[in-house]
Amino acid sequence: MKEYNLNTKLRAYQWNELSEEDRKLIDIAKEQTERSYCPYSHFHVGAAALLANGEVIRGCNQENAAYPSGLCAERSALFAAGAQYPDQPVEKLAIACYTDGHFTKEPGSPCGACRQVMIETEHRYGGKMQVLLYGADETYIFDSAADLLPLIFVSESLKG
Ligand code: THU
Repeated sequence: MKEYNLNTKLRAYQWNELSEEDRKLIDIAKEQTERSYCPYSHFHVGAAALLANGEVIRGCNQENAAYPSGLCAERSALFAAGAQYPDQPVEKLAIACYTDGHFTKEPGSPCGACRQVMIETEHRYGGKMQVLLYGADETYIFDSAADLLPLIFVSESLKG
């Protein structure tokens, strides 16, 4: 038997330690929480994807009475980016969560399905995508979506 220790790497920032570019992107993700359609969970998630050409694509969670038919904020932004600018790598993805009248103190944590889609986005464009998880107390920055998902499943995995 062997034991593997899978480490992950992130940096935690106070708001005033973030770059202006990152603060702007996070502000868009925060603004997007106001557009979230979440009558069931009342958990508002906003996302903002910065493309290589400088465009920012916005997303937010979209719920549905048939629950699984809804979509998370991260995937709504990444799929919209792929639909509108299929040739533009996504350089950064910021998310923010708002519930009970305030932004969450802890950084929002993307669900497994969104992490999988983030990984595919990185692989699709062959570069790293930074992930910025806003929290009122601190913001986590991951330099690569791969840092959010160990033992990734990608197209090469299908080759066995
Ligand atoms: N949600 C997101 O938008 N992103 C995540 O990564 C986690 C969860 C949404 C889905 C649902 O509309 C609500 O938050 C509660 O789960």
